[in-house]
Amino acid sequence: MEQSAFGVIGLGVMGASLSLNIADKGFSLSVYNRLTPGEEHMVSQLLERKTDKMHIQGFTDLEAFIDSLQRPRKLLIMIKAGKALDQVINIVLPSLSEGDIIIDGGNSHYSDTKRRCQNLLEHKIHFLGCGVSGGEEGALKGPSLMVGGNAEAYQQISEIFESIAGKDKHDKPCCAYVSKDGSGHFVKMVHNGIEYAEMQLLAELYALLRNHYSNDKIAEIFKAWNATDLGSYLLEITTDILTKKEGEDYLLDKILDKAGNKGTGSWSSKAALDFGSVNSMMASSVFARYISSYKAKRVELSKYVVREKQHNTSSIKDLENAYRFARIINHYQGFDLIKKGAQENDWDIDCSEIARIWTNGCIIRSHFMEASTHYLKADKTYLDHEVFINLLQESEGQIKVLLKNALDSNVSVNTFYNAYDYWLSLSTANLPANLIQAQRDYFGAHTYQKIGSSEDQYFHTNWIE
Ligand code: 6PG
Repeated sequence: MEQSAFGVIGLGVMGASLSLNIADKGFSLSVYNRLTPGEEHMVSQLLERKTDKMHIQGFTDLEAFIDSLQRPRKLLIMIKAGKALDQVINIVLPSLSEGDIIIDGGNSHYSDTKRRCQNLLEHKIHFLGCGVSGGEEGALKGPSLMVGGNAEAYQQISEIFESIAGKDKHDKPCCAYVSKDGSGHFVKMVHNGIEYAEMQLLAELYALLRNHYSNDKIAEIFKAWNATDLGSYLLEITTDILTKKEGEDYLLDKILDKAGNKGTGSWSSKAALDFGSVNSMMASSVFARYISSYKAKRVELSKYVVREKQHNTSSIKDLENAYRFARIINHYQGFDLIKKGAQENDWDIDCSEIARIWTNGCIIRSHFMEASTHYLKADKTYLDHEVFINLLQESEGQIKVLLKNALDSNVSVNTFYNAYDYWLSLSTANLPANLIQAQRDYFGAHTYQKIGSSEDQYFHTNWIE
């Protein structure tokens, strides 16, 4: 039996799609799935999808699967993140040899990846945490891949990973070695946080527009924006969603307004809180999903609370500029979190390269991401460029119109509000934090600094004397 160049454990939607992508690029592959109830046919179903040119061997016996891999073994685990992954690692570990490489392609928490890298190093096994974005279609045809862990281990899998990744506009793979240990999963987690806010901004625009326009008309507006610098994958799919019909009716109108989540948006927001990075848009979009799930309470209260409504409309141009404004802030906040996470974890992360691998394959790919590869070069942020400061300043009026009209029409637009408020605070020289400092010093003797005194001079006052 010929040995395979690569192995995949777990043939769920993402595992199966990545397997077919790898085999399609000419790499010989072994795949494994356990034989538990409901999963008996995973291996045979995958083998049915293979084309003649693909070399795939299927296994339901783990030992045989591991024996079928060339050394050093390279195996990708595609199972649900969490305890199950530790269990699988513990099961395969005794059969592995020094120098073998395990890659976790799930949405694992970066701190778990960090721990697994350290633990497996004791066994002389390399562990790489790989963020995979692009959903089923991306995994099959070209995902964005963010790999963290040992750099030499990455070199050994780079040929395969760079072959299966999506390609940027210069035909370079949307796959990169990010930095050591959990950095790949960290960057993927922030990707999802940015994704949450991008989705919520579109939901808030839809909430405003549906008071005045049909789904078809909203789709038309979004389609026109999509042909400008605002173009993005999420905007594009939203136009499709708005016009999709089930029978005579719009499918969207039949979908229950309770948004789900698998946790990465909340992880990302928590990391922002931990590292002192203001990611208010990300956090507000997580809360927007949470409050949507309070459906029964919302319905109950809405029967009692009567609100006056003024029917103001923002012009489409106002909305377009407000949306542009909010997207800049969202990306600014997201990349700030990557920078702070890198500092905290001693990772060397090139944000321009991250933007580059996010220009295709992933969910937040967009024209703005293309531009970001340029603006984030040399460790710069958007606000190091006058063009963005001017743009934000010029569209301030329009986001204010959006917010005022949203208030008048009783539409919640908290993520837009957070974009505006962030910019407002960030460009205000004097915030009322002097009062916070005085209060802290009053009740807790926490001390404060004084205007004009040296940075290292702290004062305490006996406030009740
Ligand atoms: C991607 C997606 C993908 C998935 C997330 C978000 O980049 O391909 O982000 O990872 O959609 O798990 O899921 P939730 O919205 O359920 O949190």
